[in-house]
Amino acid sequence: MIKVENITHIYEKGLPDEAVALDDVSFTIEDGSFTGIIGHTGSGKSTLLQHLNGLLKPDSGHIFVGGTDITDKKTDMLAIRRKVGLVFQYPEYQLFEETVASDVAFGPKNLGLTDEEVRLRVEEALHLVGLDIAEFGDKSPFELSGGQKRRVAIAGVVAMRPEVLILDEPTAGLDPQTHRDILDMISEIHRKQRNITILVSHNMNDVANLCDHVLVINKGKLVMDGTPEEVFAKADELSEMGLSAPPAAEFLRSLKKRGVNIENIPLSAEAAAEEIIKALSRG
Ligand SMILES: Nc1ncnc2c1ncn2[C@@H]1O[C@H](COP(=O)(O)OP(=O)(O)O)[C@@H](O)[C@H]1O
Ligand SMILES: [Mg+2]
Repeated sequence: MIKVENITHIYEKGLPDEAVALDDVSFTIEDGSFTGIIGHTGSGKSTLLQHLNGLLKPDSGHIFVGGTDITDKKTDMLAIRRKVGLVFQYPEYQLFEETVASDVAFGPKNLGLTDEEVRLRVEEALHLVGLDIAEFGDKSPFELSGGQKRRVAIAGVVAMRPEVLILDEPTAGLDPQTHRDILDMISEIHRKQRNITILVSHNMNDVANLCDHVLVINKGKLVMDGTPEEVFAKADELSEMGLSAPPAAEFLRSLKKRGVNIENIPLSAEAAAEEIIKALSRG
């Protein structure tokens, strides 16, 4: 379980361009949860993620991961980074080894595992991201397509078998098919490993489909914390923050505004179609 208590983070503190990136943020993420974080660009999402694996320290407040206070100076940060895996935005820029297999092996090797254990971890992680080790293991990461590179980068974090897997906009810049493939892969990893997964995304459909819990950040403040249904019901508030509900829900809301007899606003296209059929039969 992750517990964040009243964290504040200020960049360039005391300097003219001081920026309060996180302002008194508190929330809890339960074991096994798939949590989505949404918010306008610059709202503090990436800053928050980097606090969860200890890369950044808050100016005030506490963060507990599995009961350990990771803001405590005495905490073993290596142990925390093993437990909490963070996939940065555009992680493929951080591939650097000569082969795919050695890139994915980099993290597990640093865990002090035997060569055989490392090999198994690499094979397992590549399999989880949908890449066959026999086909891709000896290739240079630089020969791969953008989507494949991103899979390799995610495999490098998955190979650490983190209890918490955090992904910062993992589908940014991908074509629609690769976007879907990467998300299917993430939800499959979540299903198999039963870890906590935390996803930052601008795609409200993805958040509605995958997540059981949604946090909304606006200008460094946590402004909503609930289920996708609870959060996306607040369409007007989201719109004021430059956000929206999933397209199907927005569409139903606009039909309703124009007088169509819509009773419920579900989040998926399929459920929205059912709702429209019901409205038509009611006349
Ligand atoms: N290294 C940094 N130094 C100074 N300011 C930063 C730094 N990183 C981010 N910021 C500022 O903190 C705020 C939050 O940024 P960020 O966490 O990257 O937001 P998001 O991921 O939601 O786009 C922004 O105003 C940004 O300009
Ligand atoms: Mg960001």
